[in-house]
Amino acid sequence: MSAPFDLVIRGGTVATASDVFAADVGVRAGRIVQIGERLERGAQEIDAAGRLVLPGGIDSHVHLSQPSGEGIVMADDFESGTRSALFGGNTTVLPFCLQERGQSLREALTGYHALAEGNCYTDHSFHLIVSDPSPSVLGQELPALVADGYTSFKVFMTYEGLRLNDGQILETMDVARRTGALVMVHCENEDAIRYLIGRHEADGDLAPRAHATTRPIVVEREATHRALSLAEVVDVPVVIVHVSNGPAIDEIRAARARGRKVIGETCPQYLVLTAADLDGMDWEGAKFVCSPPPRDKASQDACWNGLETGVFDLFSSDHCPFRYDDPAGKLNPKGRTSFRHIPNGIPGVETRLPILFSEGVMKGRIDLARFVALTATNHAKVYGLTAKGRIAVGMDADIAIWDPEARRTIRHADLHDGADYSPYEGLEIRGWPTTVVLGGKVMVREGELVGQKGDGRYRARTLASL
Ligand code: URP
Ligand code: ZN
Ligand code: ZN
Ligand code: ZN
Repeated sequence: MSAPFDLVIRGGTVATASDVFAADVGVRAGRIVQIGERLERGAQEIDAAGRLVLPGGIDSHVHLSQPSGEGIVMADDFESGTRSALFGGNTTVLPFCLQERGQSLREALTGYHALAEGNCYTDHSFHLIVSDPSPSVLGQELPALVADGYTSFKVFMTYEGLRLNDGQILETMDVARRTGALVMVHCENEDAIRYLIGRHEADGDLAPRAHATTRPIVVEREATHRALSLAEVVDVPVVIVHVSNGPAIDEIRAARARGRKVIGETCPQYLVLTAADLDGMDWEGAKFVCSPPPRDKASQDACWNGLETGVFDLFSSDHCPFRYDDPAGKLNPKGRTSFRHIPNGIPGVETRLPILFSEGVMKGRIDLARFVALTATNHAKVYGLTAKGRIAVGMDADIAIWDPEARRTIRHADLHDGADYSPYEGLEIRGWPTTVVLGGKVMVREGELVGQKGDGRYRARTLASL
């Protein structure tokens, strides 16, 4: 007689965004079909005694295979990036599909799908980056793509070649108003940054640390205020991504107090790194160059407070890896001469969950249910992944089994991404995912890769349930 379940995860402690309880989890045909005590036999069984059984992480902010210009290449493609994500306890990632200026969104998507297809270890979907909001993009393409399951798009207030002006942001937000899609905003004031860069260049102050000095908190606070105001003018919800500091958090709080729907996101770099990391011998500070930059202790405390009090709904990695010691990465020929040419972004898709678990749950700052909400459940709700992000009957069997007592020191040599360093090297961690199940298939078993690339599939999304 065949077993009633394909897989039973037995004897673990299950956590959802609201509860933590002892239960077995039964899986059939890729879905969770029963949760309870003493489930019947599974064709495959996992002993989860002493382990936590959590929904697989959803990292809704990663960059893979995104072109960076001037011969600089991202250190992760879809294969290495999703493999790294998987080992970090994730089962779904949402990378960005970058529209280059003059390109149609469909054309851009065709390219990213081709890169991802057959190469992913996790499920995936795409946010669109709108860099060229032409009348046809806003009038026809974008609405059609929303209907096709690309239900979120990011706009930038910084980066030459990417930034939109306020009028363009309003027009793009209006597409969200008409379609129900969600706009994500990168909030930094490009003109203010350029002014400060000009002053630093005049002073000959070109080391990596100047990246942080030329992107101070006020530049992010102002842009956050403006993005929230533009969303208020249009009357749409908005996602403020990678928030790094208290004054920007205060802007989110103030907007919510006015009745606005605002989704806040922060990332590991704003909890455990500071601008001082951008100092360092031999241009080592380049390893920490990302935007917004890591700040200071007060900003870290403010971000923790935001995670504890619900300002932040999302905790994402903003994984955007470049190799350090590499002419195509951080130390490209121009990057060696000025901070302006160091590509922005740092790796972190594999360490996101362990850092929040160790620094947050194990140190008593957040509880396990909040951890689950911040790392999986909320991402599924906000970005319309209706079958994901929860351990519940009927959901995809995307599950990460954690050893809460595992002790590890982060070493890049142990990670699985394509970069050549980790900005978190040496950080002591308590708790690590040991076994990861994707759609009922065991992908990582006790730290060993057993799944195949191509097991991860594309998932169209619905509109947000906010
Ligand atoms: O420096 C960063 N964060 N690079 C990634 C692109 C972005 O703005 O998210
Ligand atoms: Zn950004
Ligand atoms: Zn303000
Ligand atoms: Zn990003």
